[in-house]
Amino acid sequence: MKRLSVFVSGGGTNLQRIAEYFAENPEVEIANVICNNPNAYAIERAKNLGIPCKIISRAEFKSEDFSKELLDQNIDLIVLAGFLWLVPQHLIEAFPNKIINIHPALLPKYGGKGFYGEHVHEAVVAAKEEYSGITIHYVNECYDSGAIIFQAKVALEEGETADSLAAKIHKLEYQHYPEVIEELLKK
Ligand code: GRF
Repeated sequence: MKRLSVFVSGGGTNLQRIAEYFAENPEVEIANVICNNPNAYAIERAKNLGIPCKIISRAEFKSEDFSKELLDQNIDLIVLAGFLWLVPQHLIEAFPNKIINIHPALLPKYGGKGFYGEHVHEAVVAAKEEYSGITIHYVNECYDSGAIIFQAKVALEEGETADSLAAKIHKLEYQHYPEVIEELLKK
């Protein structure tokens, strides 16, 4: 049995999709959800999915005890799905190449501090980019700069808005994130 820990800060649609994808797979389970935002709808989703959810404070997150807790729970892969805090060094060291993130653009463009949520899509549309897409990457101590595992792209159309682009990107995320996770768990 492979055990995932999914970190969230917001709506949690990727969490939902990942949970549904693995629901039929007896070899993979989401052991827990970690959420830094007490108002996130993702908490409700975790409850409905029957997954234990921990709401974490900044102090707890920064403490090495948190790494120990996840190690004790035999987590195989930490999956960031719309999680907005920078991951502390102790966690990166405790889970080398076992923390991944999904970013809603084609990194290295439109990444780094401040490039999250609609800000990413607004910048891509304003720059009249021909393409945007998703990047799944390993997490290191800087935002959006770990080694890239997978990218998929989508063309911007005439009259594309940040909202219409966000919808396209979400579709790509739902399509690819669970499959990439599944592949990584085989390694
Ligand atoms: C996704 O677009 C993901 O790429 C980004 O945050 C968003 C999370 O959406 N990192 P949701 O909370 O899964 O709906």
